[in-house]
Amino acid sequence: MTEITGNTKVWAILADPIHHVKTPQALNALMRGRNVDGVLIPAHVGAEDLPGFVAGLKSMRNLGGFIVTVPHKTAIVDLCDEVSEQARAIGAVNTVRRKADGRLVGEMLDGAGFVAGLRQGSIEPRGKTVYLAGAGGAANAIAFALAEAGVSRLTVANRTRSKGEDLKQRLERHHPSVPVEIGTPDPSGHEIVVNATSLGLREDDPLPLDAARLSPDQIVAEIIMQPEMTALLAAARERGCRTHPGRPMLSCQLELMADFMGMRP
Ligand code: ATR
Repeated sequence: MTEITGNTKVWAILADPIHHVKTPQALNALMRGRNVDGVLIPAHVGAEDLPGFVAGLKSMRNLGGFIVTVPHKTAIVDLCDEVSEQARAIGAVNTVRRKADGRLVGEMLDGAGFVAGLRQGSIEPRGKTVYLAGAGGAANAIAFALAEAGVSRLTVANRTRSKGEDLKQRLERHHPSVPVEIGTPDPSGHEIVVNATSLGLREDDPLPLDAARLSPDQIVAEIIMQPEMTALLAAARERGCRTHPGRPMLSCQLELMADFMGMRP
């Protein structure tokens, strides 16, 4: 697209605050690369206005879909006309497609982005034992995607134990063939170790797990993108582990989002 015309299709990202989002730059560049006559715009929408705004979007016939982020990922679930079983189990949606009849279809792609990122790094989770630190929003999405990918065992370790147990119960209900355990800070005995907590963003954060228990046969993966070399990844390298950074989760997810929302010529 060189200019916006009457034929240009529109996508959006809904957030509050909005100024920090990088998705417009990323997806507009992706659309240029795909030769799509489309534009993705930032929409600054507060939580109280979300239902009315989304109801209006349903009637916008040249809207392809939209991305939702903080604080709307949970509230949007009930505003969609359809959501995937996985998104329903996670309780969150981050990508919505608008069908031609105006129906809104929601999906959660955080976890699929993480798994696609692993595969892009030649790490196949199928059949592997996985330790997952965290049970928050990101960890929920990643846990369901790992179960979907067919890991052989999943251990969930979270500071607040009840949230870990709640995640375990929902995983067992939707993926009865995947054994799920509640873990301790000790990640030993797993082939892949994942940090899905927010720890590592700040310099003074504690490590999300006991890195002294890591061994060279383990792969350690991050969801934190900034800094690229988190304290956990540095500690894992020191222990001889193969490491996988946080960035591919986002880059792979952008492709998945574009596909889901129909960003094609
Ligand atoms: P996100 O959407 O980024 O996943 P979130 O839902 O707030 O954010 O989840 C943050 C995760 O990091 C949770 O697993 C949280 O643990 P709790 O469930 O116990 O809150 C974890 N986390 C954040 N700060 C932590 C800390 N100081 N120590 C241990 N875990 C922490």
